[in-house]
Amino acid sequence: MRTGDYYDRLFLLLHLFTTNYFSYLLGQLSCIHGPVLTNITGSSIIVNLKPMNTIYDRIGINYSGTRQADPRISAQIYSKLKDAKRIINIGAGTGSYEPDDMDLVAVEPSSEMIAQRSSKAHPVVKGFAEKLPFEKNSFSHAMTVLSMHHWENKDQAFREINRVVSESFVAVTWNPEAEPFWLTRDYFPEIYEKDKKTFSKKDELDKYFDDLEVSKLMIPEDCKDGFLAAFWKRPKAYLNDKVRKSISAFAKLNDCSTGLQKLQSDLDNGAWMDKNRDILDASFLDVGYIVVSAKVKNP
Ligand SMILES: C[S@@+](CC[C@H](N)C(=O)[O-])C[C@H]1O[C@@H](n2cnc3c(N)ncnc32)[C@H](O)[C@@H]1O
Repeated sequence: MRTGDYYDRLFLLLHLFTTNYFSYLLGQLSCIHGPVLTNITGSSIIVNLKPMNTIYDRIGINYSGTRQADPRISAQIYSKLKDAKRIINIGAGTGSYEPDDMDLVAVEPSSEMIAQRSSKAHPVVKGFAEKLPFEKNSFSHAMTVLSMHHWENKDQAFREINRVVSESFVAVTWNPEAEPFWLTRDYFPEIYEKDKKTFSKKDELDKYFDDLEVSKLMIPEDCKDGFLAAFWKRPKAYLNDKVRKSISAFAKLNDCSTGLQKLQSDLDNGAWMDKNRDILDASFLDVGYIVVSAKVKNP
């Protein structure tokens, strides 16, 4: 190795170490935007620089255009958090559903999502559920909204939640034992099949949490937050690229043209209306979403 190469490498290493360390120090004061500092034990600092799965850096562009907190969903989440002293919001995204008036720290891996958080939002640390950069019992409660199905290693993430949280875990998720609704039944069955495998079942959660309470999350006909089933009464919305772009289930499909053509033609010829008359009088629909709240198994 030439001496110049040696100094270049040494300089790069020093640069990486110092930028990460200062990111961490800054993060302790406010928020961390930058490489993730994942583990601190005594004086040893392990910086995780390996490329991480941040699919939302691609699909999260303009997320806040179609994905905002729906007040009726917020109310159901807040009712489970009212006794919280300090909350960690995992997979926090752009900050939807974070109660303004509570002590909260957000954790989010995607820079794109972090960049869309308001300047008044709670502090955010760039990180993953699987490696939460906090000491044991740093929070009373953890919350997570429509993020758990993205976690690469859920067991590890649940262990981490048990480590950093002293009381309760509150999650908005989808029940993989639920029936498909018209979109995933008639047009995109592959989404339903994939989701059934990806979303956590009750027994997986029972392994890591006690006193699991599950309540149905009824989705309003005019839901403000454009997730997969939010447009159950507004079928034309699914034909809009912008709407689909912020829904990960669509972003992960290789090709959605067949389903979209079928939907378009069923809307044009009245077949959609004939098949779905039974839901059109409802103002809220059960499409399998749930709010789970449970106690951590904290030794
Ligand atoms: C559908 S978005 C939900 C964002 C926000 N909770 C909301 O309700 O708008 C899913 C979020 O989970 C994040 N995510 C993906 N993998 C993650 C992981 N391993 N740990 C923590 N968050 C993750 C994504 O970057 C994304 O911001």
